[in-house]
Amino acid sequence: MNNDSDQLTITRRMRGLPSSCVRDLMKATEGRDTISFAGGLPRPDLLPLAAVREATDRVLLREGGSALQYSSTEGNLELRALIAEQLLAPRGVRVSPEQVLITSGSQQGLDLLGKVLLEAGAQVALENPSYLAAIQAFGLYEPEYLPVEMDEEGVLPDALARCCRDQNPSFFYAIPDFQNPTGRLYSRERREEVVEVLARRRLPLVEDAPYSHLAYGDEPGPMLAASYGAHSFVMGTVSKVLAPGFRIGWVAGPQRWIEPLVKAKQATDLCTGAFVQRIVAELLRELDLPEHVARLRAAYRKQRDAMLAALAEHMPPGVMWTRPAGGMFVWLTLPAWLDAREVLARTLPRGVVFALGESFSPDGCYRHAMRLNFTNASEAAIRQGIAILAEEVKALF
Ligand SMILES: Cc1ncc(COP(=O)(O)O)c(C=O)c1O
Repeated sequence: MNNDSDQLTITRRMRGLPSSCVRDLMKATEGRDTISFAGGLPRPDLLPLAAVREATDRVLLREGGSALQYSSTEGNLELRALIAEQLLAPRGVRVSPEQVLITSGSQQGLDLLGKVLLEAGAQVALENPSYLAAIQAFGLYEPEYLPVEMDEEGVLPDALARCCRDQNPSFFYAIPDFQNPTGRLYSRERREEVVEVLARRRLPLVEDAPYSHLAYGDEPGPMLAASYGAHSFVMGTVSKVLAPGFRIGWVAGPQRWIEPLVKAKQATDLCTGAFVQRIVAELLRELDLPEHVARLRAAYRKQRDAMLAALAEHMPPGVMWTRPAGGMFVWLTLPAWLDAREVLARTLPRGVVFALGESFSPDGCYRHAMRLNFTNASEAAIRQGIAILAEEVKALF
């Protein structure tokens, strides 16, 4: 084990792959008393502990040893049906259970789509900024990224149209509901305009929607895929509403694409944990989801408000931030000359961390930005953490 062979070299695709700054920070601060605005974690005391315990007992008593077997690669059919009926149909997406593939977190969905859809050098259009771990996941398949600018209402239709006209993307990756990292929600008009642009070019859509339930004001409208239909893949997860520890997500898409995705998943992990799939199915059947979601919304709304109020109180002029109507994140922009790494170098020893904006763009263009999570810290910790963050920002002005 100690004599590493010189014969081995790491692959080209791995050499170029950046590490996730969020995961690195989580590791660096593990076991330390930290106010973390870095991750996208739910608050542990809001996870449905009692319901999970009861669901687990019921599954074991009812199904005995078979509850602990492998699952098919596609996933538990009952869970797939529940996702289609309870989570996708209400958002306007009509798919059969057979069109839903259960994945090990929606993160695996990103990887499988990359495996199946991207040749090396293929182009991927995506919002700018976008989810850092999607950039990382697709990155393994060596695409060329085409970042498309956004405003408060979502991706800019003209910029997307230009990208479609001048380039040749394989698909457009979008997070229209309370986007990661900006928290932005596409307006209804913008949804229609974006679908029109996609339809003109018949550009496939990968719509990632982990935050749709976490609305603190307006509900998101129908998914883009609801009107775009046949050319879309939608991805979801129970991580933000039930528990990230389950590692249960899904990809739903055109029937003909399910088979290659299943083959890619077979090669990766055979199947997602069958026991957990059954527990999640039981929860979707038995838990009062609207009531649980209402509890999450009430708590996170207050935490968001605490963060926005603390930012308004402490940040100096010249610093800007989004005011998200849902989700888990505020996107903060410093004056262009100020590097968020310098801020992090000063807040880390004081026990406050955040995600660097540069990780959320393939070209690293947001060096002066940061993503702040408000769901994992108490209101008091948020106030304290933002005060420290603002002190260190001011010290660099
Ligand atoms: C936009 C987006 N997609 C996918 C994921 C992955 O979620 P999971 O793998 O926990 O389902 C996340 C997690 O933060 C996310 O923000």
